[in-house]
Amino acid sequence: MKQQKLENSVANINPSPHITHKRWHGLAQSIEQEHDFQDLRIEGNLPKEINGTFYQNGPGLFEREDDRYSHAFDCDGLMRAIKIQDGCAKGAAKIIESAGLLAERQAGKTLMSGIETTCYGLKPSFNRIKAFATGKVDTKNNANTSMMVWQDRLLALYEASPITELNPQTLESMGETTLGGVIKSAFTAHPHWVSERKTAFGFGVDLEGLKTVLNIYELPSSGPCKVLTQVPLKWRPVGYVHDFIATPNYLVFFIPPLHLPTSKLYKVVKGDGNFTHIEWRESLGSEVIIIPIDNPENVTRFKCEPFIGIHFANAYEENGKIITDFTYGPDTVLYDSVGPTPTLPTQRAIKNRYLKRKADSSVMKRATIDLQSSSIEFSTLWNSFCEFPKINPGLQGSDYQFMYLVQQSKNCAQTTPYFSDIVKLNTKTGDAVTLELGSELYPGEPLFIRKQDASQEDEGYLLCMVYDGNINKNHIAVIDAQDIQSGPIAKIHFDQAMPFGFHCFWHPAK
Ligand SMILES: [Fe+2]
Repeated sequence: MKQQKLENSVANINPSPHITHKRWHGLAQSIEQEHDFQDLRIEGNLPKEINGTFYQNGPGLFEREDDRYSHAFDCDGLMRAIKIQDGCAKGAAKIIESAGLLAERQAGKTLMSGIETTCYGLKPSFNRIKAFATGKVDTKNNANTSMMVWQDRLLALYEASPITELNPQTLESMGETTLGGVIKSAFTAHPHWVSERKTAFGFGVDLEGLKTVLNIYELPSSGPCKVLTQVPLKWRPVGYVHDFIATPNYLVFFIPPLHLPTSKLYKVVKGDGNFTHIEWRESLGSEVIIIPIDNPENVTRFKCEPFIGIHFANAYEENGKIITDFTYGPDTVLYDSVGPTPTLPTQRAIKNRYLKRKADSSVMKRATIDLQSSSIEFSTLWNSFCEFPKINPGLQGSDYQFMYLVQQSKNCAQTTPYFSDIVKLNTKTGDAVTLELGSELYPGEPLFIRKQDASQEDEGYLLCMVYDGNINKNHIAVIDAQDIQSGPIAKIHFDQAMPFGFHCFWHPAK
């Protein structure tokens, strides 16, 4: 495949007072064309040592018939896969055809509520009340949030529902799986790999009778999936536990004070999405739950100030304490920012949302957990509205130095709900290097790919899906992680716009 000289110069990439962020609407539109794997145009020098598949999952369809979904979580999923080998790339994009989507296409109408999308056609019934009471509400499994490759199986994840399996060669949907009857119902969008144990850990928040429980699962690199333990949660129904983090010896959960009031149950039973009625209840506080992997019944749990841990970058053990780094929220402002999609918000609405943000909304914090005293202390690592933190995956669970994330520049935050910059943060010194991509360029989650024979932690590449609002098309930016200020060394171009994505996964070639 012919490689073209990279057009972007450093001068184009450096911050400029003329940078604008208003042409972001392509990020919140349904994909125009699904396609099988096909050659993608390469610009610049795509290193031949990058060999593997880059996956990104996220919303793909923003409408059900003529009705726009009320929340991005309710959009039908779109799996994007880019196979990179020897300086060339092939890409595919496929809507995840869930049973719910197929049924609604056939019926030509709404059949199910979403997390926030209301199905007005539903009526309260004994069966729906019973379904809600047993945690089996007929929410559509959009499989649109994340993914993992486990034992060569491509698994699309949507935390409110079971796992959906896709064919890794074609991205075609194969249906839901319980991984051999083990996964009871829901499965997180954020499993975490513990290399010392050659095992990924995951969880599901499930309603079981009158209890809300965390079911914890082990997914070893070989052998069957297993249940590790079950931890009851103390109030019901818990609204939301999005992510957790693992060290070599512990699993760490932060349970936010989200609550569905009993007075609102009727509306959910009637057909409203339950996210619509969940409340942030300060008085509940948050709960810290620590599960020792080798003694999972010996759980440490305690209450603390109300907060939500949105996405975790890393955690490690140090002198009897657990250090966790994550995007912190004092409320659910992030979901208000990128979630709702009924209409594209006006510039005034976006600016008003920005002005209402608390100072520590979606900033990067470090929590130090003392297991002996059952206490937690917070410090701020990066005080900017940011998300999608990633590190060198070889250091997951260990002390580390560099974190990569995306943030909103202040200029951007007042004109778009999306992100504008890639940041490389030195967690030891607090120093950071920021790459503001440029006018109408919107980066997604940045993945770190280690260079072959790397001897330094940051010796690798960042791969990042970018929407270019100037031309209404997407590309993957390939950036030298030791020199992010110089901008992309290569771009892998799609011929069309891709809606924004939530999470990415790198599966190295064998
Ligand atoms: Fe997430």
